[in-house]
Amino acid sequence: MKALVLSGGTGSRLRPLTYTTAKQLIPVANVPILFHGLRAIASAGITHVGIVVGDTRDRIMAAVGDGSDLGLQVTYLPQEAPRGLAHAVQIAEEFIAGEPFLMYLGDNLLQQGVASLVTGFGDGQANAVILLTKVPDPRRFGVAELVGNRVARLVEKPLHPTSNLALVGVYLFDRHIFQAVRRIRPSPRGELEITDAIQNLIDTGHRVESRLVQGWWKDTGTPEDVLDANRLLLENLESGVFGLVDDSSVLRGPVLVAEGADIRRSVIHGPAILGSGCRVKDSYIGPYTSLDKNVVVHSSQIEGSVVLEEAKVLNLQSPLAGSLIGRSAVIGHANDRPRAWKLILGDGSRVALP
Ligand code: G1P
Repeated sequence: MKALVLSGGTGSRLRPLTYTTAKQLIPVANVPILFHGLRAIASAGITHVGIVVGDTRDRIMAAVGDGSDLGLQVTYLPQEAPRGLAHAVQIAEEFIAGEPFLMYLGDNLLQQGVASLVTGFGDGQANAVILLTKVPDPRRFGVAELVGNRVARLVEKPLHPTSNLALVGVYLFDRHIFQAVRRIRPSPRGELEITDAIQNLIDTGHRVESRLVQGWWKDTGTPEDVLDANRLLLENLESGVFGLVDDSSVLRGPVLVAEGADIRRSVIHGPAILGSGCRVKDSYIGPYTSLDKNVVVHSSQIEGSVVLEEAKVLNLQSPLAGSLIGRSAVIGHANDRPRAWKLILGDGSRVALP
Protein backbone atom coordinates (compact mmCIF):
# COMPACT_ATOMS: atom_id res chain seq x y z
CA MET A 1 0.00 0.00 0.00
CA LYS A 2 1.08 3.57 -0.72
CA ALA A 3 0.13 6.83 0.95
CA LEU A 4 -0.85 10.12 -0.61
CA VAL A 5 -0.42 13.10 1.71
CA LEU A 6 -1.94 16.43 0.71
CA SER A 7 0.16 19.33 1.80
CA GLY A 8 -0.85 22.29 -0.36
CA GLY A 9 -3.25 25.11 0.45
CA THR A 10 -2.62 28.68 1.51
CA GLY A 11 -3.58 28.46 5.17
CA SER A 12 -5.29 31.86 5.01
CA ARG A 13 -6.92 31.41 8.41
CA LEU A 14 -3.51 30.97 10.00
CA ARG A 15 -2.04 34.25 8.80
CA PRO A 16 0.31 35.87 9.53
CA LEU A 17 2.17 32.62 10.41
CA THR A 18 1.45 31.18 6.95
CA TYR A 19 3.11 34.12 5.17
CA THR A 20 6.43 32.54 6.10
CA THR A 21 5.58 28.88 6.63
CA ALA A 22 3.20 26.21 5.36
CA LYS A 23 0.20 25.59 7.62
CA GLN A 24 1.24 21.91 7.86
CA LEU A 25 4.63 22.94 9.28
CA ILE A 26 3.29 24.84 12.31
CA PRO A 27 4.50 22.85 15.31
CA VAL A 28 2.20 21.31 17.88
CA ALA A 29 3.91 19.79 20.92
CA ASN A 30 7.06 21.07 19.15
CA VAL A 31 6.65 18.79 16.12
CA PRO A 32 5.28 20.10 12.79
CA ILE A 33 1.66 19.02 12.23
CA LEU A 34 2.62 17.21 9.01
CA PHE A 35 5.26 15.13 10.81
CA HIS A 36 2.67 13.72 13.22
CA GLY A 37 0.78 12.38 10.15
CA LEU A 38 3.93 11.09 8.44
CA ARG A 39 4.95 9.28 11.64
CA ALA A 40 1.49 7.65 11.82
CA ILE A 41 1.89 6.50 8.21
CA ALA A 42 5.35 5.07 8.92
CA SER A 43 4.00 3.28 12.03
CA ALA A 44 1.31 1.67 9.86
CA GLY A 45 4.10 0.07 7.82
CA ILE A 46 3.68 2.24 4.71
CA THR A 47 6.96 3.45 3.20
CA HIS A 48 6.11 4.89 -0.25
CA VAL A 49 4.55 8.28 0.26
CA GLY A 50 3.57 10.84 -2.36
CA ILE A 51 3.24 14.37 -1.00
CA VAL A 52 1.11 16.74 -3.07
CA VAL A 53 2.57 20.23 -2.75
CA GLY A 54 1.45 23.67 -3.91
CA ASP A 55 2.79 27.20 -3.43
CA THR A 56 4.61 26.21 -0.23
CA ARG A 57 6.43 23.31 -1.90
CA ASP A 58 9.94 24.64 -1.14
CA ARG A 59 9.20 24.82 2.56
CA ILE A 60 7.63 21.37 2.70
CA MET A 61 10.48 19.86 0.70
CA ALA A 62 13.11 21.53 2.88
CA ALA A 63 11.44 20.20 6.05
CA VAL A 64 10.68 16.62 4.94
CA GLY A 65 13.52 16.02 2.47
CA ASP A 66 13.54 12.51 1.04
CA GLY A 67 11.67 11.24 4.11
CA SER A 68 14.46 8.90 5.19
CA ASP A 69 14.64 10.45 8.70
CA LEU A 70 11.08 9.21 9.16
CA GLY A 71 11.74 5.83 7.54
CA LEU A 72 9.85 6.88 4.39
CA GLN A 73 10.56 7.20 0.70
CA VAL A 74 8.93 10.45 -0.37
CA THR A 75 7.99 11.51 -3.90
CA TYR A 76 6.78 15.10 -4.40
CA LEU A 77 3.79 15.69 -6.67
CA PRO A 78 3.38 19.37 -7.58
CA GLN A 79 -0.18 20.68 -7.95
CA GLU A 80 -0.08 23.84 -10.05
CA ALA A 81 -3.23 25.36 -8.54
CA PRO A 82 -5.48 24.40 -5.59
CA ARG A 83 -8.12 22.70 -7.72
CA GLY A 84 -9.43 20.34 -5.05
CA LEU A 85 -8.67 17.13 -3.21
CA ALA A 86 -9.95 14.96 -6.06
CA HIS A 87 -7.71 16.86 -8.46
CA ALA A 88 -4.78 15.99 -6.17
CA VAL A 89 -5.78 12.32 -6.50
CA GLN A 90 -5.86 12.71 -10.27
CA ILE A 91 -2.31 14.03 -10.50
CA ALA A 92 -1.12 11.16 -8.27
CA GLU A 93 -2.44 8.44 -10.61
CA GLU A 94 0.93 7.56 -12.07
CA PHE A 95 2.63 7.51 -8.66
CA ILE A 96 -0.07 5.26 -7.15
CA ALA A 97 0.22 2.90 -10.14
CA GLY A 98 -2.89 0.85 -9.41
CA GLU A 99 -2.08 0.03 -5.76
CA PRO A 100 -4.53 0.54 -2.91
CA PHE A 101 -3.65 3.74 -1.05
CA LEU A 102 -4.23 5.76 2.06
CA MET A 103 -5.04 9.43 1.47
CA TYR A 104 -4.16 11.70 4.36
CA LEU A 105 -4.80 15.45 4.59
CA GLY A 106 -1.57 16.90 5.95
CA ASP A 107 -3.29 19.26 8.41
CA ASN A 108 -5.26 16.46 10.11
CA LEU A 109 -4.27 14.80 13.38
CA LEU A 110 -5.69 11.49 14.60
CA GLN A 111 -5.07 10.15 18.08
CA GLN A 112 -5.53 6.55 16.94
CA GLY A 113 -3.07 6.84 14.04
CA VAL A 114 -3.86 4.85 10.88
CA ALA A 115 -2.42 1.37 11.51
CA SER A 116 -5.73 -0.26 12.51
CA LEU A 117 -7.51 1.43 9.60
CA VAL A 118 -5.20 0.16 6.85
CA THR A 119 -5.08 -3.44 8.09
CA GLY A 120 -6.81 -5.73 5.63
CA PHE A 121 -7.73 -3.04 3.08
CA GLY A 122 -7.08 -4.32 -0.41
CA ASP A 123 -7.79 -7.95 0.57
CA GLY A 124 -11.48 -7.34 1.24
CA GLN A 125 -14.29 -6.16 -0.97
CA ALA A 126 -14.39 -2.46 -0.13
CA ASN A 127 -13.35 -0.06 -2.87
CA ALA A 128 -13.10 2.78 -0.39
CA VAL A 129 -13.17 3.27 3.35
CA ILE A 130 -14.05 6.64 4.87
CA LEU A 131 -13.51 7.73 8.44
CA LEU A 132 -16.28 9.57 10.26
CA THR A 133 -16.69 11.42 13.52
CA LYS A 134 -19.53 13.28 15.23
CA VAL A 135 -19.04 17.06 15.22
CA PRO A 136 -21.07 19.92 16.69
CA ASP A 137 -21.09 21.97 13.44
CA PRO A 138 -21.07 19.65 10.40
CA ARG A 139 -21.48 22.54 7.92
CA ARG A 140 -17.67 23.03 7.90
CA PHE A 141 -17.05 19.48 6.64
CA GLY A 142 -18.06 16.75 4.23
CA VAL A 143 -21.09 15.06 5.84
CA ALA A 144 -22.19 11.42 5.60
CA GLU A 145 -25.63 9.89 5.83
CA LEU A 146 -25.65 6.26 6.89
CA VAL A 147 -28.37 3.65 6.50
CA GLY A 148 -27.33 1.05 9.04
CA ASN A 149 -23.62 0.67 8.36
CA ARG A 150 -23.95 1.51 4.68
CA VAL A 151 -22.89 4.94 3.44
CA ALA A 152 -25.97 6.22 1.61
CA ARG A 153 -24.99 9.79 0.74
CA LEU A 154 -22.12 12.24 1.12
CA VAL A 155 -22.41 16.01 0.79
CA GLU A 156 -19.56 18.53 0.92
CA LYS A 157 -20.19 21.38 3.40
CA PRO A 158 -24.01 21.20 3.31
CA LEU A 159 -25.97 24.26 4.41
CA HIS A 160 -28.55 21.99 6.04
CA PRO A 161 -26.71 18.86 7.21
CA THR A 162 -28.81 15.76 7.60
CA SER A 163 -26.40 14.16 10.09
CA ASN A 164 -23.63 15.22 12.46
CA LEU A 165 -21.14 12.74 10.98
CA ALA A 166 -18.20 14.60 9.43
CA LEU A 167 -15.72 13.11 7.00
CA VAL A 168 -12.31 13.02 8.58
CA GLY A 169 -9.42 13.82 6.22
CA VAL A 170 -8.21 10.21 6.03
CA TYR A 171 -9.46 7.84 3.33
CA LEU A 172 -8.61 4.46 1.80
CA PHE A 173 -9.07 3.90 -1.92
CA ASP A 174 -8.46 1.28 -4.55
CA ARG A 175 -7.85 2.09 -8.23
CA HIS A 176 -11.58 2.73 -8.92
CA ILE A 177 -11.30 6.21 -7.43
CA PHE A 178 -9.39 7.42 -10.51
CA GLN A 179 -12.37 6.67 -12.79
CA ALA A 180 -14.73 8.32 -10.31
CA VAL A 181 -12.61 11.49 -10.32
CA ARG A 182 -12.83 11.60 -14.10
CA ARG A 183 -16.64 11.44 -13.91
CA ILE A 184 -17.19 14.38 -11.55
CA ARG A 185 -17.37 18.14 -12.26
CA PRO A 186 -16.07 21.06 -10.15
CA SER A 187 -18.23 22.06 -7.18
CA PRO A 188 -19.69 25.56 -6.63
CA ARG A 189 -16.36 26.54 -4.99
CA GLY A 190 -14.65 25.57 -8.24
CA GLU A 191 -12.87 22.47 -6.90
CA LEU A 192 -12.97 18.79 -7.72
CA GLU A 193 -14.24 17.48 -4.37
CA ILE A 194 -13.12 14.11 -3.06
CA THR A 195 -16.53 13.89 -1.36
CA ASP A 196 -18.21 14.01 -4.81
CA ALA A 197 -15.82 11.38 -6.16
CA ILE A 198 -16.71 9.01 -3.29
CA GLN A 199 -20.43 9.71 -3.89
CA ASN A 200 -19.77 8.77 -7.52
CA LEU A 201 -18.27 5.45 -6.39
CA ILE A 202 -21.48 4.77 -4.46
CA ASP A 203 -23.67 5.80 -7.42
CA THR A 204 -21.79 3.47 -9.77
CA GLY A 205 -22.28 0.45 -7.50
CA HIS A 206 -18.90 0.37 -5.75
CA ARG A 207 -18.54 -0.57 -2.15
CA VAL A 208 -17.82 2.29 0.26
CA GLU A 209 -17.46 1.41 3.93
CA SER A 210 -17.19 3.71 6.92
CA ARG A 211 -15.46 3.53 10.28
CA LEU A 212 -15.98 5.76 13.28
CA VAL A 213 -12.89 7.48 14.66
CA GLN A 214 -11.69 6.11 17.97
CA GLY A 215 -10.18 8.82 20.14
CA TRP A 216 -9.82 12.43 19.09
CA TRP A 217 -9.43 13.99 15.65
CA LYS A 218 -8.35 17.50 14.80
CA ASP A 219 -8.30 19.47 11.56
CA THR A 220 -5.89 22.32 12.24
CA GLY A 221 -7.21 25.10 10.03
CA THR A 222 -7.41 27.92 12.59
CA PRO A 223 -5.27 29.21 15.51
CA GLU A 224 -7.86 27.81 17.93
CA ASP A 225 -7.54 24.38 16.28
CA VAL A 226 -3.74 24.53 16.59
CA LEU A 227 -4.00 25.35 20.30
CA ASP A 228 -6.53 22.54 20.77
CA ALA A 229 -4.30 20.06 18.93
CA ASN A 230 -1.38 21.13 21.10
CA ARG A 231 -3.48 20.55 24.23
CA LEU A 232 -4.63 17.11 23.05
CA LEU A 233 -1.08 16.00 22.19
CA LEU A 234 0.36 17.27 25.47
CA GLU A 235 -2.20 15.14 27.39
CA ASN A 236 0.08 12.19 26.65
CA LEU A 237 3.37 13.93 27.31
CA GLU A 238 6.03 11.91 29.08
CA SER A 239 8.22 13.81 31.51
CA GLY A 240 11.92 14.11 31.00
CA VAL A 241 14.55 16.62 32.01
CA PHE A 242 17.49 16.79 29.63
CA GLY A 243 18.33 20.44 30.14
CA LEU A 244 19.28 22.49 33.15
CA VAL A 245 16.72 23.19 35.90
CA ASP A 246 18.13 25.12 38.88
CA ASP A 247 17.31 24.33 42.51
CA SER A 248 14.97 27.31 42.85
CA SER A 249 12.69 26.07 40.08
CA VAL A 250 9.75 23.73 40.52
CA LEU A 251 8.38 21.29 37.93
CA ARG A 252 4.83 19.98 38.48
CA GLY A 253 3.03 17.38 36.37
CA PRO A 254 4.41 16.10 33.06
CA VAL A 255 7.15 18.46 31.86
CA LEU A 256 9.64 17.81 29.09
CA VAL A 257 12.74 19.99 29.20
CA ALA A 258 14.86 19.40 26.09
CA GLU A 259 18.63 19.30 26.02
CA GLY A 260 20.20 22.73 26.15
CA ALA A 261 17.16 24.39 27.77
CA ASP A 262 17.92 26.50 30.84
CA ILE A 263 15.29 27.06 33.55
CA ARG A 264 15.97 29.39 36.48
CA ARG A 265 13.82 30.52 39.43
CA SER A 266 10.65 29.45 37.63
CA VAL A 267 7.59 27.27 38.10
CA ILE A 268 6.65 24.97 35.24
CA HIS A 269 3.23 23.42 35.64
CA GLY A 270 2.80 20.68 33.04
CA PRO A 271 1.84 19.31 30.72
CA ALA A 272 4.37 21.58 29.08
CA ILE A 273 7.26 21.16 26.70
CA LEU A 274 10.32 23.38 26.56
CA GLY A 275 12.45 22.94 23.45
CA SER A 276 16.20 22.94 23.12
CA GLY A 277 17.92 26.23 23.85
CA CYS A 278 14.87 27.71 25.67
CA ARG A 279 15.76 30.16 28.40
CA VAL A 280 13.13 30.65 31.11
CA LYS A 281 13.90 32.95 34.05
CA ASP A 282 11.72 34.20 36.95
CA SER A 283 8.61 32.99 35.15
CA TYR A 284 5.59 30.73 35.33
CA ILE A 285 4.88 28.34 32.45
CA GLY A 286 1.41 26.88 32.87
CA PRO A 287 -0.37 23.77 31.52
CA TYR A 288 -0.64 23.04 27.79
CA THR A 289 2.22 25.25 26.73
CA SER A 290 4.79 24.39 24.06
CA LEU A 291 7.89 26.55 23.77
CA ASP A 292 9.82 25.70 20.63
CA LYS A 293 13.60 25.95 20.17
CA ASN A 294 15.44 28.95 21.63
CA VAL A 295 12.35 30.67 23.05
CA VAL A 296 13.15 33.17 25.82
CA VAL A 297 10.70 33.86 28.68
CA HIS A 298 11.76 36.33 31.37
CA SER A 299 9.68 37.56 34.31
CA SER A 300 6.40 36.55 32.65
CA GLN A 301 3.55 34.09 32.99
CA ILE A 302 2.30 32.06 30.06
CA GLU A 303 -0.10 29.14 29.73
CA GLY A 304 -2.16 27.25 27.14
CA SER A 305 -0.01 28.68 24.36
CA VAL A 306 2.23 27.69 21.48
CA VAL A 307 5.38 29.78 21.04
CA LEU A 308 7.51 29.24 17.96
CA GLU A 309 11.29 29.30 17.59
CA GLU A 310 13.34 32.25 18.81
CA ALA A 311 10.34 34.23 20.12
CA LYS A 312 10.79 36.29 23.29
CA VAL A 313 8.29 36.98 26.06
CA LEU A 314 9.76 39.56 28.42
CA ASN A 315 8.64 41.28 31.64
CA LEU A 316 4.89 41.01 31.07
CA GLN A 317 2.67 42.34 33.84
CA SER A 318 -0.36 40.33 32.72
CA PRO A 319 -0.31 36.60 32.03
CA LEU A 320 -0.37 35.42 28.44
CA ALA A 321 -2.88 32.63 27.66
CA GLY A 322 -4.39 30.93 24.60
CA SER A 323 -1.80 32.53 22.33
CA LEU A 324 -0.04 31.39 19.18
CA ILE A 325 3.18 33.37 18.78
CA GLY A 326 5.18 33.25 15.56
CA ARG A 327 8.91 32.83 15.06
CA SER A 328 11.16 35.58 16.43
CA ALA A 329 8.18 37.63 17.67
CA VAL A 330 8.95 39.76 20.74
CA ILE A 331 6.37 40.59 23.39
CA GLY A 332 7.67 42.93 26.04
CA HIS A 333 6.77 45.53 28.59
CA ALA A 334 6.73 49.24 27.70
CA ASN A 335 9.11 51.03 30.07
CA ASP A 336 9.03 54.43 28.40
CA ARG A 337 6.15 56.88 28.20
CA PRO A 338 3.43 56.82 27.13
CA ARG A 339 2.70 53.52 28.97
CA ALA A 340 0.60 52.28 26.12
CA TRP A 341 0.30 49.15 24.02
CA LYS A 342 2.86 49.57 21.24
CA LEU A 343 2.31 47.03 18.52
CA ILE A 344 4.12 46.12 15.35
CA LEU A 345 1.94 43.39 13.87
CA GLY A 346 2.10 41.43 10.64
CA ASP A 347 -0.82 41.56 8.19
CA GLY A 348 -3.75 39.55 9.50
CA SER A 349 -2.46 39.43 13.10
CA ARG A 350 -4.96 39.34 15.92
CA VAL A 351 -4.55 40.81 19.41
CA ALA A 352 -7.10 40.40 22.21
CA LEU A 353 -6.50 42.83 25.09
CA PRO A 354 -8.03 42.14 28.52
C1 G1P B 1 -11.75 18.71 3.47
C2 G1P B 1 -12.82 17.83 2.84
C3 G1P B 1 -13.98 17.63 3.83
C4 G1P B 1 -13.43 17.06 5.12
C5 G1P B 1 -12.30 17.93 5.67
C6 G1P B 1 -11.61 17.27 6.85
O1 G1P B 1 -12.26 20.00 3.65
O2 G1P B 1 -13.29 18.45 1.64
O3 G1P B 1 -14.93 16.76 3.28
O4 G1P B 1 -14.49 16.94 6.06
O5 G1P B 1 -11.30 18.18 4.69
O6 G1P B 1 -10.52 18.02 7.35
P1 G1P B 1 -11.31 21.32 3.59
O7 G1P B 1 -10.53 21.29 4.88
O8 G1P B 1 -10.46 21.17 2.39
O9 G1P B 1 -12.26 22.48 3.51
